[in-house]
Amino acid sequence: MAAGKLVCVQDYEDYARKHLSKSAWDYFSSGADDEQTLRENQAAFRRIRLKPRMLRDVSTRDLTTTILGEKVDFPVCIAPTGLHEFAWQDGSLCMMKAAASMNVCMTLPTFATSTPKELVDVAPSALKWFQLYVTRERDFMKRLIQHVEKLGYKALVITIDVPVVGNRRAMTRDGFHVPPHIKISNFGDELKRKYAFPADATDPSLSWKDIAWFQSVTSMPIVLKGVMTSEDAKMAVQHGVQAVWVSNHGGRQLDSVPATIEVLPEVVRAVGGRVEVYMDGGIRQGTDVMKALALGARAVFVGRPPLWGLAHSGEEGVRHVLQILKDELSLAMALSGCKKIKDINRSLLQHENELAKL
Ligand code: FNR
Repeated sequence: MAAGKLVCVQDYEDYARKHLSKSAWDYFSSGADDEQTLRENQAAFRRIRLKPRMLRDVSTRDLTTTILGEKVDFPVCIAPTGLHEFAWQDGSLCMMKAAASMNVCMTLPTFATSTPKELVDVAPSALKWFQLYVTRERDFMKRLIQHVEKLGYKALVITIDVPVVGNRRAMTRDGFHVPPHIKISNFGDELKRKYAFPADATDPSLSWKDIAWFQSVTSMPIVLKGVMTSEDAKMAVQHGVQAVWVSNHGGRQLDSVPATIEVLPEVVRAVGGRVEVYMDGGIRQGTDVMKALALGARAVFVGRPPLWGLAHSGEEGVRHVLQILKDELSLAMALSGCKKIKDINRSLLQHENELAKL
């Protein structure tokens, strides 16, 4: 099927469900436990309605913005997800090339199927961040961080919501294992020895006092991914990080936590403009992006949508998924009277509970 026939992210998800192997589908799509949080991430967007403004000359729209000082063509970037080769050969390189051609940021996960250097080789000038799962071996961490910094990665994204791995029932039931043809840790034998995927991948003793150590080994800005409360958002600011990333890991860690769009406002309030705030979780269309920006996110990240694009047609599929989200955001802006990203604010939103009072 030509990529052009698929018109929304849901179409790509439907295609992926039909065509991926069962274990790949289970790995990509699963949430933790009862998957309440997984469902809520999308459902909560539907509870927020838009209040469009008219007669505002929207003949031209500017979707560009910056994240940590770097320009992106629109504020939808690629979240780190593991095992891209489960969906497509050279999956991480395809994602990188798609992100580069759309001029948005790609976050390379620790468990990518290509090395940090290979990404640089296919897209030398593209904006890249590196996501870190922290192991106990701090010497190894230091070398890895300094390696990506030297390669020109622009931020270190430390994932803080995986002290231990959540229980994804579909994967447990099937006895999930990584198929031998997938090269997870293409960082070399050292990485393979240090990380046993997916269990034991992280150090459960990681705590706030470790942040200073990361700051001492890198001058890359540090982004904490997995902040879900105002308390932790304030701690992040106090510890001098450059950004917080509201995330519940796509509903894959602690089940029953709120949707990310529901905690975004309290995090934005807590940081009070001192650092940038990003969010991910459940973004599937342009209006979702608009709602997150209206609630104070500087940019949003998507995890599963690019995986569905990858499963359909590799680089072309990922690019088309990003293009769909860009076009939908542009359309939503036009239809609600916004010419530029800064025009998107809270006055555009109404929660369905407020409607019920009428
Ligand atoms: C993830 N996520 C993730 N996060 C991270 O920091 N490191 C990782 O290696 C992974 N791996 C991963 C694999 C898969 C298959 C999924 C679905 C997710 C979480 C990811 O970065 C992001 O937080 C969520 O995917 C966002 O939710 P949506 O966009 O998938 O709804």
